[in-house]
Amino acid sequence: MAQRDPHSSWSPEKPRIKHIDFDLHVDFSKKVLRGSADYQFDRPLESAFQLDTRDLSVVRISTPDGKELKWSRGDATFLGRVLTIHDTRGLSGLRIQYETSPDAAALQWLDAEQTAGKRHPFMFSQCQAILARSVFACQDSPGVRFTYAAKLHVPRGLSAVMAAIARGSHQEGNETVFEFDMHHPIPSYLFALAVGNITSASIGKRSRVFAEPESVKQAAWEFADVDRMIEGAEGLFGKYIWEEFNLLVMPPSFPYGGMENPTLTFLTPTVIAGDRSLVSVVAHELAHSWTGNLVTNASWEDFWLNEGWTVYAERRILERLFGTEFANLQAANGRTSLTKAFEVFGGPTSPLTKLKTDQEGVDPDDVFSVVPYEKGFLFLTAIERAVGREAFEQFIQAYIHDFAFKSLFTEQFVEYLDAKLPQARRAVNFDAWIHSPGLPGDAAAFSSHLIDEVREAQQQWTAGKRDLASVIAKWTVDQKTLFLDELPEKQSSAELFVIERLFDVEHTQNSEILVPWFTLAAANTYRKSFPAIREFLGVVGRGKFLRPLYRALHQNPETSDWAKELFAEFKDRYHSVGRNAVARILEQPSVASQG
Ligand code: BES
Ligand code: ZN
Repeated sequence: MAQRDPHSSWSPEKPRIKHIDFDLHVDFSKKVLRGSADYQFDRPLESAFQLDTRDLSVVRISTPDGKELKWSRGDATFLGRVLTIHDTRGLSGLRIQYETSPDAAALQWLDAEQTAGKRHPFMFSQCQAILARSVFACQDSPGVRFTYAAKLHVPRGLSAVMAAIARGSHQEGNETVFEFDMHHPIPSYLFALAVGNITSASIGKRSRVFAEPESVKQAAWEFADVDRMIEGAEGLFGKYIWEEFNLLVMPPSFPYGGMENPTLTFLTPTVIAGDRSLVSVVAHELAHSWTGNLVTNASWEDFWLNEGWTVYAERRILERLFGTEFANLQAANGRTSLTKAFEVFGGPTSPLTKLKTDQEGVDPDDVFSVVPYEKGFLFLTAIERAVGREAFEQFIQAYIHDFAFKSLFTEQFVEYLDAKLPQARRAVNFDAWIHSPGLPGDAAAFSSHLIDEVREAQQQWTAGKRDLASVIAKWTVDQKTLFLDELPEKQSSAELFVIERLFDVEHTQNSEILVPWFTLAAANTYRKSFPAIREFLGVVGRGKFLRPLYRALHQNPETSDWAKELFAEFKDRYHSVGRNAVARILEQPSVASQG
């Protein structure tokens, strides 16, 4: 059966967008982008042409020489509305004048209050997986790549950045016009912009960190390892081709830990812990420069090809920088989070625990989980262990080289794997890994003295020993996270009181410690922590933290009403992705009402 992308109106036999020139005004008062997009195609169009859109107001569509064209729109679904442009035969270009909606799913418009500086508004886009269509009409499939140039008109005093190379800026009346160029072809989901009071500092040979002035110094310190990470990644994959690898520190409502927008990774400020303990997110987004941005999943059903490979590469980079023991601890944390994800899906028999998922009629955001990340990582690790690291490294280089700027389905990957590493299939059951739920019995285990220390403390804790302060004081953040994540959900107030002290939660700003702690506190109605939980949920919009926290509050009959109150109060502060994720959790029956 021919593979297809179930989330786009585009299909491989149709012409593709080859290039777009954007000219957009960023209007903070109406919370819209307004302007034009000029499209070029890889071949002349047929009599009608379709694009994906969502909540866009089309003003006018014309041929490159200005002749107006008729258009119509299909029914609204979760995929948006398909825009059909008529009488397009023979055209090699089109111009669309349009405006986004204030509710565009990809865009968040923040009041000054939600920024670090609290004096200027901020806006940003998050297009992955299928939200680019709310920013511009496009073939919103990872199977279509285009280059682009953009002019962004922003209010004077604010700066625009894009996931593209900056070509300078000039004043036009009350506005500043910023120009950008992306001359490597990208899929629509990697289109990205942000506007705010943004400044930057150099952090490496080809890297700057962009942030509000209030946090740029701290950010530059936190991410100072960037050159070593790039060297490590190049050792694994080959040359970095995107010219610059810059970082943008987002406001705390950003819904992800990081987003691999090419040349400009977007990062949650919650990774700035003050001790470089959470920089693995940078290694991860950097690795996407190859696995994802160069070699791309052809549909979101094959998302593991992006994320499983990237987690594998992330841990290889960390291994090189910080050693095997460190990387193995991350893998152990990943394994714990995978077990939790299986539980959320109702156990390891759920079809959502398969590597390749069926997303016909399904919004990829609704089934997002760590499964493609951690199960994908374990699958690739199984292959690596079967063929040996040297052969696997050669395979990686060939794979990246042969599929650069292409998109592929899981089936094509398997075919390629069979051709290049025929011995892998003899040791690893590909079908079980890809098409069966749960985890095959031969999934790799990881050892490290760092993990052993945690296991030992867990045994002592279970045996009732509570004076672990001197042990825990020597731990890394990842060790603490592993311990907290694996504590049984039910804890007495007396135990929580001890945990609170052992992990010094009142003085930590580290979200990877705070959130597992808050989750325990929420699940056990530990009221002393409620003001801190409330403060956190009122500021941070990262899905990884919102989901377990709201879930714990919702499933505890004593706090389920409070969860709804908090969400009603804070939902407008979250990006649509975070808001929808929480709304889905709160819609589910809570455990109590299930009996
Ligand atoms: N590309 C993802 C973020 C994403 C996934 C956005 C799906 C939209 C849809 C990014 O690379 C990512 O995986 N971020 C992780 C961090 C990482 C260290 C696992 C995150 O946000 O937690
Ligand atoms: Zn990723």
